[in-house]
Amino acid sequence: MLAFIHAALVAAAAGIYSVARAQTDCDRFFTVQAGDDCNAISAAQNVSTFQLALVNPQIDPLCDNLFVGEQLCLGITGQDCETVHVVQAGDSCTSIADAAGISVSTLLSNNLNVNPICTNIGIGEVLCTANVTIPYDVTSA
Ligand SMILES: *[C@@H]1O[C@H](CO)[C@@H](O)[C@H](O)[C@H]1NC(C)=O
Ligand SMILES: *[C@@H]1O[C@H](CO)[C@@H](O)[C@H](O)[C@H]1NC(C)=O
Repeated sequence: MLAFIHAALVAAAAGIYSVARAQTDCDRFFTVQAGDDCNAISAAQNVSTFQLALVNPQIDPLCDNLFVGEQLCLGITGQDCETVHVVQAGDSCTSIADAAGISVSTLLSNNLNVNPICTNIGIGEVLCTANVTIPYDVTSA
C-alpha cells in the first residue's frame, strides 16, 4: 500500500514537473477557443500534429478533452518546427517532401508519429516540413 502511494506520488510529481518545464521553456502559447480541435489548431498555428501532442501530453490521443480557456504550448524553445504542411487527399510522404524541398528521411525524423513507409498519414494531419532535423526531446514525452 505504501509502495503504491509512493509510486502514485512520484508519477504525479513527474507529471507536474513535465508541465512546469514545458511552460517554462515554451516558445509559443495558445489559448483554446470554442470549437477548436487539434488539427484546426495545428493548421492555423503552424504546429505539427506530432509536436502539439508531444508538448501537451495532457491532451488525450483522440483530442477530445480540450476545454475553452485551456492554455497550450505550441512548441518548446529550440525544438519548435514552424514550417508545416496540412495533408490533402492524394498526398504521400514523397510528394510532401518534394514540394517542401526536403528528403523523406528529414520529413520522417521530424514527424515521429508517421511510420517508416508512410501509410498512416491522414487528411487534415499537419506535418513538419522543416529542412533541418528538429532536436525533439522525446524522452520527456
Ligand atoms: C503560418 O505559416 C504561413 C506560411 O509561412 C504564414 O503565412 C502564416 O502567417 C503563419 N501563421 C502563423 C499563425 O504563424
Ligand atoms: C531552410 O529553411 C529556411 C527557412 O525556411 C531557409 O531560410 C534556409 O535557406 C533553408 N536552408 C536550406 C539549406 O535549404
